[in-house]
Amino acid sequence: MTDREVLAFDLYGTLVDPIAISGELGRVLGDADGAEAARLWRAKQLEYSFRLTAMGRYEDFRWVTARALDFALASTGARLPEEEAERLVGLYDHLRPFPDAVPALRALAGLGYELAVLSNGTPAMIGNCLASSGLGGFLGDRISVDEVRVFKPSPVVYWHAAGRLSRPAGQVRLVTSNAFDCAGASAAGMRTAWVNRSAAPFDTIGQPPDLTVPALDRLPAALAD
Ligand code: 2OP
Repeated sequence: MTDREVLAFDLYGTLVDPIAISGELGRVLGDADGAEAARLWRAKQLEYSFRLTAMGRYEDFRWVTARALDFALASTGARLPEEEAERLVGLYDHLRPFPDAVPALRALAGLGYELAVLSNGTPAMIGNCLASSGLGGFLGDRISVDEVRVFKPSPVVYWHAAGRLSRPAGQVRLVTSNAFDCAGASAAGMRTAWVNRSAAPFDTIGQPPDLTVPALDRLPAALAD
C-alpha cells in the first residue's frame, strides 16, 4: 500500500540504549561516578547538538559525543588516557537494542510498513550501530542529519527526511523516545509516536505526540486503532 505512512525511527534512546554505557563507565570510574558521568554525557551530547545548530555551526555527532564525554569526565574529576576516551566513544557503535525493538520491528515489517531510521548519528555511526545491534535487516533508508549539517529538532532535518523517503511530511511518522524530537517532527508537519518507557511527563513546549506507547512493541496495536 503506497499511501501507507512510513515509520521513521529515532536511533539513540529509541532503538538502542545509550544509558547502558553507564555500566562500562562504572567499571572505569566506579559505580556512583559512572552513573552520573553517563547521565551527564547523554545530556551534554544533546545540549551541544542543540547549541551548535542554534549557533549556525556544525560538527558531526561523533565529534559532539567525544566533546560531551570530555565534559562528563572533567565533571567527575576523572582523567583518562586519550585512547581510553576514544574506546568509550566507540561504544556508541555497539549499543544494545532495547528488548522491545526487534519484536516491534518484526511485527511492523510483517504488517507491510516501510521502516526507516532518522538519527543525529553520522552515517558510519548509524551503520555500525545497526549492524552490531542486529536491527539493520528490518530497516530500509538510513537518514543522518549529517546530510543537511543541522541537528534535530531543526525542521530542516525532518523535511529532508520526508524528501529522502519521497513522501510529504504528513505521510511520515517519527517514532522516538525523545520528547524534543517528537516536538520537532510535529512542528515540521510529521506525525509522531512517543515511546514513553519511563512514564515521564511530556515536555511543556511543543505539540503533544499523536500517539504515546509505553514500549515499542505496543506500537502495532496503537497504529491499528
Ligand atoms: C538520535 O537522533 C536523538 O540522539 C537521538 O538518534
